[in-house]
Amino acid sequence: MKEDLKRLFPEIIQIQNDTLKDRTLATLEEALVLGGWKAEDVDRIPFTLLIKDTKVSFRQHTRSVTQMAMACARIMTEQYGSLVKINYDHLISGGILHDVGKLLEYRRSDSGYTKSLSGKLLRHPFSGAGLCTKHSLPDEVVHIVAVHAKEGDGGYRSAEAYIVHHADFINFEPLRDL
Ligand SMILES: [Fe+2]
Repeated sequence: MKEDLKRLFPEIIQIQNDTLKDRTLATLEEALVLGGWKAEDVDRIPFTLLIKDTKVSFRQHTRSVTQMAMACARIMTEQYGSLVKINYDHLISGGILHDVGKLLEYRRSDSGYTKSLSGKLLRHPFSGAGLCTKHSLPDEVVHIVAVHAKEGDGGYRSAEAYIVHHADFINFEPLRDL
């Protein structure tokens, strides 16, 4: 499945550190297996249940968030230089994995996509952070996943976590308010 995931999420290939790249892939793969999905389901799973019948898939959202995060980081580096230090590997891994917990939070039933029991108890930032820890991702990446959504508001966010958080909301609120 890892080769499929590299094809479906080509941003992963841009992670320079091979260990981080492998662990990012392994985390995504295990989330799919645990959730009972196939790799191709990433094009069918909605990116959110908060927008009824959204046409935007988990894969499209994840790639858009990651690409926007990378673009923001590049511009910030051009503008601010060493004033803001951004670890691109952590940023890409965190962007790809920020919603990985949704693969456990959602399930497919006869009535469509709904929350799983696990998802009712543990929203995706919690399950995603747990899965990332299980795969020995660095704390910097677990942090991005853990605080990217409302649960992280009011607490510390690293530069990479702020970038992914805002990229995530740019890729949610305008679609929600159509
Ligand atoms: Fe997201």
